[in-house]
Amino acid sequence: MSKILAQVDTVKALRQRVARWRREKLKVALVPTMGALHEGHLTLVDHANTLADRIVVSIFINPAQFAAGEDLTTYPRDLEGDLKKLSARKANLAFVPMGEEMYPKGFATSVSVKGPATAALEDKHRPHFFTGVATVVAKLLIQARADYAVFGEKDYQQLKTVTRLAADLDIATRIVGAETIRHDDGLAMSSRNEYLSEYERVVAPLLYKTLQETAEELRSGAEPAACMRRAFRALNKASFKVDYVEARNADSLRKLIGTTDEPIRLLAAAYLGKTRLIDNIAV
Ligand code: PAF
Repeated sequence: MSKILAQVDTVKALRQRVARWRREKLKVALVPTMGALHEGHLTLVDHANTLADRIVVSIFINPAQFAAGEDLTTYPRDLEGDLKKLSARKANLAFVPMGEEMYPKGFATSVSVKGPATAALEDKHRPHFFTGVATVVAKLLIQARADYAVFGEKDYQQLKTVTRLAADLDIATRIVGAETIRHDDGLAMSSRNEYLSEYERVVAPLLYKTLQETAEELRSGAEPAACMRRAFRALNKASFKVDYVEARNADSLRKLIGTTDEPIRLLAAAYLGKTRLIDNIAV
C-alpha cells in the first residue's frame, strides 16, 4: 500500500518544505494541475521523477482561467482520489490552496501575455484564458521555486506561453514539456473527456485520426491551406463543431505561408456536443 501523501494548503508551508529540500541539495519539480487526475497527469509526475528528487503537485481549479458560462462549477473534482494516485506515483507533496490563498482579498494583479498566447488559436475562442493561466502559473512558479515545472504538450499553446513567460520574467524554473498521453483509440487524455456521452466517446478519437491524416498530407508536400480545409470538412462531417484546425510554426505558433520546411505543429479544437476537445501533433 502506498503511503499517505503530505499535503499543504498555504504558500508559507509550501515554501518551508521546498526550502528544506533545497538545503538538503535535492532537486525539486513542480507539476501544476487542476486535479481530477488521469493517466496523462500521472505521466507528468513520472516525467518529473526522472528530472528531480522531490515532486510537488499543485491542485487548484483556477477561476481566473474560466469565463462566465464555462465549466468552472462543474469541472470534475476528486481530491481524495487524486491524493491516492499521486502517492502511488511517488509524488512527495500536494499543494492544495484554497481560492483565498491564491487570490486574497484585494488581489489586483494579472499577467498579460502576448507572443504565443496571442496566436489566434485558443485565445481567439477563449480570450480570457491565457491571462488567467499566466497569472496562476507565474504565482505557482514564484511560490514553489522549483528547479523544473512539467506541463503536458496536449495544451501546446499553454506550454509555449508558459515557456515564454518564465523566460521573460527571469523565473529560474526550467519549463519542461511532456508528450500527450492517449487512450488506446488515440483520444488524448483529458479531465473533460468525462463529459462525453457514450456515443460521443466513440466519435471523439476521430479528432486525432484527422490530425494524423492531415499531418501525413502535409509531410507529402500538400499545400497547408487546402489540407486545413479538408480537415475542417472531415471533422464537420463527423459531427464536430470546429473552433480551429491549423498548421503553425511549431515554436512561434505563427501562421505558415505556403509550403515550408519550418517545423510544423498541427493544432485543433472542436466541440463534440457540449464538450470542447483540443489536440495537436507534430508534423
Ligand atoms: O493545464 C492545466 O491544468 C492548467 O491550465 C494549469 C497549468 C494547471 C493552470 O491552472
